[in-house]
Amino acid sequence: MATRSTIMDTNSFRAEHADALSQDVRKLTDKRSRVLGDSYRLFYRNPVHLVRGEGQYLWDAAGDKYLDVYNNVASIGHCHPAVIAAVHQQMSQLNTHTRYLHERILDYTEDLLTTVPAEITKAMYMCTGSEANDLAIRVARAYSGGTGIIVSQEAYHGTSELTSGASPALGSGQPLAATTRLVPAPDRYRVDAPDLGIWFANEIQKQIDDMAAHGIKFAGFLADSIFSSDGVLPAPIGYLQPAVDVVHANGGIFIADEVQPGFARTGDAFWGFARHGIVPDIITMGKPMGNGIPVSALLARPDVLAAFSDEIPYFNTFGGNPVSIAAAQAVLQVIREEKLQAHSKNVGEKLRRELALLAQRHSSVGDVRGAGLFIGFELVSDRDAKTPNKALALDVIERLRTDHVLTSVAGPYGNVLKLRPPLAFQEQDIDWLVGSLDKALTAAAL
Ligand SMILES: Cc1ncc(COP(=O)(O)O)c(C=O)c1O
Repeated sequence: MATRSTIMDTNSFRAEHADALSQDVRKLTDKRSRVLGDSYRLFYRNPVHLVRGEGQYLWDAAGDKYLDVYNNVASIGHCHPAVIAAVHQQMSQLNTHTRYLHERILDYTEDLLTTVPAEITKAMYMCTGSEANDLAIRVARAYSGGTGIIVSQEAYHGTSELTSGASPALGSGQPLAATTRLVPAPDRYRVDAPDLGIWFANEIQKQIDDMAAHGIKFAGFLADSIFSSDGVLPAPIGYLQPAVDVVHANGGIFIADEVQPGFARTGDAFWGFARHGIVPDIITMGKPMGNGIPVSALLARPDVLAAFSDEIPYFNTFGGNPVSIAAAQAVLQVIREEKLQAHSKNVGEKLRRELALLAQRHSSVGDVRGAGLFIGFELVSDRDAKTPNKALALDVIERLRTDHVLTSVAGPYGNVLKLRPPLAFQEQDIDWLVGSLDKALTAAAL
């Protein structure tokens, strides 16, 4: 039996939970298992049937209100009126693709490029993070002449053949590519090293050497700069610089997967890599980019991209269509107008302070860490030994769900609560979240 996937399987509904469901919910879960492929995972023992969203809140079919502490797709808030208006206007006028001229894609690209380092001057568009990372791997290989890709131990980079082969978070049922190598995650809570950055760079070098010993030429290092599925690893700021230096010294390229930390979420910077003061060779992005409209992108240094694009044409039917770009434009504008980066930093700091107070009262909390509104809340059964407590994490998540607070878990042991609300999350929401967490941790300890 394959090892289950932490991020997909820990907090998932299973057939054995069906008998406890209400009739209405049971009807839907039954229908779902009849008509949808069984690879899909549904959250919670008692799945949530959502019908409406606004800002940081969601409502279910019975009219009950939920606090969303998990959604980084509707990042500027569910059903943001600016996105709805932009999409409606463009959809009413025209929707085509990138093989005709259209101002929107050019204007947006110029604007988007102002948010990244000056070395990065080219953009390409797709619909999903998987597609962006898939192309990034192809570009890395074309540029370096190698095939070897390094990712972190619990990384998730997508669903395509190339990206699932570099996504150990999918569990052992999903084979990794023979050209994929894993490095342990730069986890300050668990790794005892005087300099985490140097330690991490050495781990990367070891894997590059291992590739060479097996006749595999190194192509690049693909990393989510906040290591979400590895358990949210934001600190210390700057730890990625030695890693990037090692990658370059070995002729590879660094691909910053910004699908999770991008678009102002970390509060410290607009992009996750920027917190570390590093300049990637390729940047990939998706999820929050269109606030729910499928749009993703790959941004790159022109010389890196040229190795691929001089030889191979690229057309993605829906990627970068005017309607998706209208949504993306609205997202950028709202992040600026509503000052969401500063907001994420401020409210994230306040939330972390409250969570740290909670940790003083519950010995089951091993670590609280984060940047902006991207927080890891790690649960343990023994603080000194840092023994991961996955059962408690799952229990707490189910208890939060009954209090109408939605979140889930991450990390290789499935014991880290990933607190990642839409950036519309406000100070007044802290009480609901922290109060529910307090209640859940107390009840679980009884
Ligand atoms: C870091 C990271 N990269 C890539 C992806 C894949 O994005 P998508 O689901 O849009 O294909 C995800 C999705 O969860 C992700 O978290």
